[in-house]
Amino acid sequence: MEVEIIKMDNLGRGIGYLNNKIIFVPKTFPGDIVEVEITLEKKNYLEGKIKKIITPSKKRIKPLCPYFFKCGGCDLMHISLSEALSYKLDKVNAILKKNKISYEVKKIIKSKEQYNYRNKLTLKIINNEVCFYEPETHLPLKIDYCYLANEKINNLLKDLNKLNIQNGNVTIRTNYKGEILLICESKQELANKEWLIHNYPIVGIVHNGKCLYGEDYLMDQINDYLFKISYDSFFQVNPYICSELFNLISSNTEDSLKVLDFYSGVGTLSIATNKNVQKTLGVEIVSNAVRDANLNKVINKRDSLEFIESDAKKVKDKITSYFDTIILDPPRSGVSKDVIQKIKEENIAKIIYISCNPQTLGRDLNLLLDKYAIKEFILLDMFPNTEHVESFCVLKHM
Ligand SMILES: C[S@@+](CC[C@H](N)C(=O)[O-])C[C@H]1O[C@@H](n2cnc3c(N)ncnc32)[C@H](O)[C@@H]1O
Repeated sequence: MEVEIIKMDNLGRGIGYLNNKIIFVPKTFPGDIVEVEITLEKKNYLEGKIKKIITPSKKRIKPLCPYFFKCGGCDLMHISLSEALSYKLDKVNAILKKNKISYEVKKIIKSKEQYNYRNKLTLKIINNEVCFYEPETHLPLKIDYCYLANEKINNLLKDLNKLNIQNGNVTIRTNYKGEILLICESKQELANKEWLIHNYPIVGIVHNGKCLYGEDYLMDQINDYLFKISYDSFFQVNPYICSELFNLISSNTEDSLKVLDFYSGVGTLSIATNKNVQKTLGVEIVSNAVRDANLNKVINKRDSLEFIESDAKKVKDKITSYFDTIILDPPRSGVSKDVIQKIKEENIAKIIYISCNPQTLGRDLNLLLDKYAIKEFILLDMFPNTEHVESFCVLKHM
């Protein structure tokens, strides 16, 4: 069955029509004519996958990764960087429009590296083989290299089977020095740890939450800041653009004095605020991340910072007019309605909203824009070769 791709959806898939129904086909681009196999048939729409590219779009390029068409990790490796950046701008603008927000985002900052940028990779181990998942089917796909991951992570992939995990998960994290932290989950004990430690720059191994060797954290450096990151703490995955994010935080807090940092992780954004800030309170749900943040403030000589462990919505009472600025950097699910309501009630002067999910950002902005106006909106290409994008948005009270 032949489909002509006419536009893109918000998940990085091409859109066409087949038998009067809309069809979504991953790894295609407008201008492609493709033969498709239907993978899902619903009342109002179809999903398909490419069987053959009959006529390629003029915009198509050869993806670097041999697994691209089978793997669920990348969505946009078949188009140039400039096409991918305009796709991301168009997508965010379409989401804003859908949420009745009349603002056009015009700027997207490139990542200094388009490949091998990720400092963290989570893999499935099935029958002692390193796998990703195939899109849609979620069938395991055996891999030995990932073009998104840092080379230090890739180097280790061929020897992960030495751990004899059989079935489980492995997360590999690395840092600015190329050190490795291995985080494994499996029923089996880990084999050949000493061999791996001898042959790779491994500084810690954590198995089912227990540290078996070295440390259960990595230290990482961005700009002039140094951070402790425990094995289960969040850290931005692309260090090649993280420094741009920190610069934006610093320049947009030049006139801030009292700052709330909701969803504060290991304290990165609080630490990146302008040195003029007199008081910062961070709120984070992961205990280790809060402990890391309280150490990171000492390492980075920012005594005026304080971090507390809590679910953000349980401490919405901390949002008071004492603070002039609130940084919101929530998980993909966005900010809880209660938190948004309290920000509005307290008339906080400035909101800096950082989001990895434009859908929930659009939803939340829609709730804020009766009291706030967008002053700055920039995209950061935090996740090259994927449909994902980071948004940086500054709102001022009207
Ligand atoms: C996108 S990360 C941002 C972390 C930090 N701002 C940074 O830049 O590294 C979101 C953080 O929110 C935390 N989190 C998730 N749900 C939360 C909740 N309900 N309350 C507070 N923190 C939460 C996560 O553990 C994670 O550290």
